[in-house]
Amino acid sequence: MIKDKPIFSVKNVCIDFKVGGKNILSKRSVLRALNDITFDLYKGETLAIVGESGCGKSTICRTAMRFHSPTQGEMTFEGKNIHKLKKDELKNYRQKAQMVFQDPFSSLNPLHSIYYHLERPMKLYHNFSKTERIEKMNEYLELVGLVPAKEQGEKYPHELSGGQRQRAYLARVLSVGADIVFADEPTSMLDVSIRLGILNMMNDLKHKLGKSFIYITHDIATARYVSDRIIVLYAGHMVEWGDVNKVIINPRHPYTKLLIAAAADPEREGKVELPIVRNQESEVTVWTPDSKGCPFRLRCPVAKSECAEEFVNAKQVSENQFIRCIHD
Ligand SMILES: Nc1ncnc2c1ncn2[C@@H]1O[C@H](COP(=O)(O)OP(=O)(O)OP(=O)(O)O)[C@@H](O)[C@H]1O
Ligand SMILES: [Mg+2]
Repeated sequence: MIKDKPIFSVKNVCIDFKVGGKNILSKRSVLRALNDITFDLYKGETLAIVGESGCGKSTICRTAMRFHSPTQGEMTFEGKNIHKLKKDELKNYRQKAQMVFQDPFSSLNPLHSIYYHLERPMKLYHNFSKTERIEKMNEYLELVGLVPAKEQGEKYPHELSGGQRQRAYLARVLSVGADIVFADEPTSMLDVSIRLGILNMMNDLKHKLGKSFIYITHDIATARYVSDRIIVLYAGHMVEWGDVNKVIINPRHPYTKLLIAAAADPEREGKVELPIVRNQESEVTVWTPDSKGCPFRLRCPVAKSECAEEFVNAKQVSENQFIRCIHD
């Protein structure tokens, strides 16, 4: 990881969505999907974002892809606000920041060969000759493990397995010339046995080519396997973040502790008792711009009355490990 200037930064980002109001009987309200999200991404690192369904992981990626604009705060690439780029800066950003989707079946066009998917962005973003393009396409296919490259490149998406399609899509990301890859659960639709191959490939691209990854996942074990740092999200809030080994081996926020205790661990003996607090409100935390306090308090086994009033500022609990919790 090259830690001078961050390649991509998120500063105090909040995202509000208007929800409801589809018919005259339902009231329109505002959901705060992300609240005060702040992090940096450096060249050649993988930053994992974990948290349960609906906590805002994909919203971070979609905002980085400019599908949404922040209600507050900003995202910057090479120091420039990505939502205020000029035409040529936008073309550069679209080339350098690419997203890999969860579903490898719908991310490739069934009417075109894999070569077509790789060659098209090359024509758009690079001035290679036809011979250079063929050489590059074969190089990228080999890099992602689709060999023999010529045979695989001539195939259509339906002739590839899910894992192979995800590899082909990553080859496409390389042919665009991306430096940052926003990978939104890239292995969750794949068979467990082929997930590791995709994760190893992400590691190779990071080490060999210095690519940076935002790796979105539910799976804390794979987050530890591929990432350098991790952010734990709860209801759109960063509750714990820092060095991946520290956060996973010695979690300090009650939600991270719960998440890790709930993860499958074949070496753990006996039954795990999860300290889950259940009351009527505890299942889903719906955050609005007016909500206050700690978002996790309704499910927190150690919540105090103060937690309803205040969501404390970030506290450093060890070197490169931070939490937002009044405990510790
Ligand atoms: N365009 C939208 N309009 C309204 N609400 C939205 C929109 N997009 C997302 N949301 C809401 O924002 C919250 C965060 O959604 P998001 O898709 O980011 O969750 P996630 O962490 O990626 O979940 P999953 O793990 O299930 O993919 C959810 O409550 C979702 O319903
Ligand atoms: Mg998602």
